[in-house]
Amino acid sequence: MSKSKHHPLGIDVGGSGIKGAPVDLKAGEFAQKRKRIDTPEKSTPEAVAEVIAEIVDHFADQIGDEPIGVTVPAVVQHGTVRTAANIDKSWIDSDAEKLLEKRLGRDITLLNDADAAGIGELRYGAAKHAKGLVVLTTLGTGIGTAILNNGELVPNSELGHLEIDGHDAETRAASSIKDKEGISYAEWAKRLQRYYSHLEALLWPDLIVVGGGVSKDADQFLPLLDLRTEIIPATLKNAAGIIGAARQAHDNVQD
Ligand code: BGC
Repeated sequence: MSKSKHHPLGIDVGGSGIKGAPVDLKAGEFAQKRKRIDTPEKSTPEAVAEVIAEIVDHFADQIGDEPIGVTVPAVVQHGTVRTAANIDKSWIDSDAEKLLEKRLGRDITLLNDADAAGIGELRYGAAKHAKGLVVLTTLGTGIGTAILNNGELVPNSELGHLEIDGHDAETRAASSIKDKEGISYAEWAKRLQRYYSHLEALLWPDLIVVGGGVSKDADQFLPLLDLRTEIIPATLKNAAGIIGAARQAHDNVQD
């Protein structure tokens, strides 16, 4: 733990909003109320870096010299972004972690949004104390996944894109599709059943955690699923990514 009263900052870059908060790593919760700014229409790395700088300025007194964790809806391989879901395609193959470090003059850890949520849930949320193989899925605009084996993240799993019945799974089972098609929880649960059965047949996890905004209504669909794996809702709600990003940024500096 840091000796100072300062806290690392977690920032979540999404398709419509960029949100950040300093995180109290002992409590596993925001140390200050979260700040949200609309994602710029042309969401290039440079434009997003400007918004992040604004959020960093806003919390300057709380974060001091602490590091910053930033999540993106994309594969991030050693600081280089490889895909781009809901953000400008110019992120692809950009050395975005370096670009952010240069713009902000601070240590930055850039990571996939679902990976960050997985770390948050593992350290402070639904998967706290879980042993073995944990798979977190975020059901939202797409499906994000995080694989955590005995507390270690295996980064950049993209299991929301498993091909099932000839479809990219997230185009059938993401919660945005449920909303778009106006189907009931019962209908949607049939798609989730297909998805999660496939997932557990491939990975044999010990625990599946279901995150994303819709996890607040988990009682409407999780009881309808028949799986061999224990499946439970995430508990940190929309804070999981920000908390996990700050945690990872802090841990990276200690390494
Ligand atoms: C992307 C993932 C991301 C997930 C949630 C998927 O479409 O491929 O990288 O984690 O959406 O945002």
